[in-house]
Amino acid sequence: MTPTKRIWLDGKFVAWDDAKIHVLTHALHYGYAIFEGIRCNSTPDGPAVFRLREHIDRLFDGARVYKMRVPYSREQLVSACLDLVKENGLKDCYLRPIVFSAAGEMGVNPLKNPVIGAIACWEWGAYLGEEGMEKGIRCTVSSWSRIDSKMLPPQAKCAANYANSILAKTDALAAGYDEAILLTQEGMVAEGSGENIFRVKNSEIYTPTMESGILGGVTRASIMQIARDNGIAVHEQNFTREGLFNADEVFFTGTAANVTPIREVDGRTIGNGQFPVTKKIQQVYLDAIHGRVEKYKPWLSYVR
Ligand SMILES: Cc1ncc(COP(=O)(O)O)c(C=O)c1O
Repeated sequence: MTPTKRIWLDGKFVAWDDAKIHVLTHALHYGYAIFEGIRCNSTPDGPAVFRLREHIDRLFDGARVYKMRVPYSREQLVSACLDLVKENGLKDCYLRPIVFSAAGEMGVNPLKNPVIGAIACWEWGAYLGEEGMEKGIRCTVSSWSRIDSKMLPPQAKCAANYANSILAKTDALAAGYDEAILLTQEGMVAEGSGENIFRVKNSEIYTPTMESGILGGVTRASIMQIARDNGIAVHEQNFTREGLFNADEVFFTGTAANVTPIREVDGRTIGNGQFPVTKKIQQVYLDAIHGRVEKYKPWLSYVR
């Protein structure tokens, strides 16, 4: 990671090296932190953040689930994100807003501790690799089940959820795969360790329902709209791992991963190894985030 000039910390811009917190930060011990991952992309009209308001709304929704009092308004965080990109002079970057329980009391209850927010941004290429976006990646179905809303609400993007993702991801990497696919406890496909998943069958696309234990991805919602706008039928419908093995195409979506084709799952080539529908959707998505599609410009917040 290449450091940038400044990080927004609790309302102020500070130098990258000065954005420090105490080792007794409550969130470090108990995972009480809600965060976001957002991308800013270059467009013909300057850098623009993709669906910024939706990301900030998701952060507030997650905070509500956890009874966390965010000491900033939505507008303040929206402006801070835009100002931060400008402050750092970046065009294409990833933004990471986080709100978390600071040091104070120790113990499981976070509610007596102050909540602090920070936003960092840095240049970050394709999360699953440029080659992955082009040629597809290899995945394994994880032996770890996805968390569900009876144990850890997956729709709140809480740091604690990522312990589940870390177990799946590190095992997948150790076994020589690029990414893990997690199933629900009932054996239905949920999502990747940091991506939503889609399957393509007979030129129609299918993605697990919001109730299946997934994060409501901003990219997922955008892809469903892009597909429908391009005459591709979209079904929110749960499926088992056979649905992956027998698909014509499978792909991941996410802010970090963009749209990444999956060419193999547990040693089985998906379809004939080509992904025309995924590629079409990927291209429209990349055009949209780079401000090349008039219709999707309302999704962009320009950094002025
Ligand atoms: C577990 C998980 N699922 C899905 C996604 C994709 O969400 P989005 O498209 O909003 O980045 C992410 C990324 O934040 C994630 O961490």
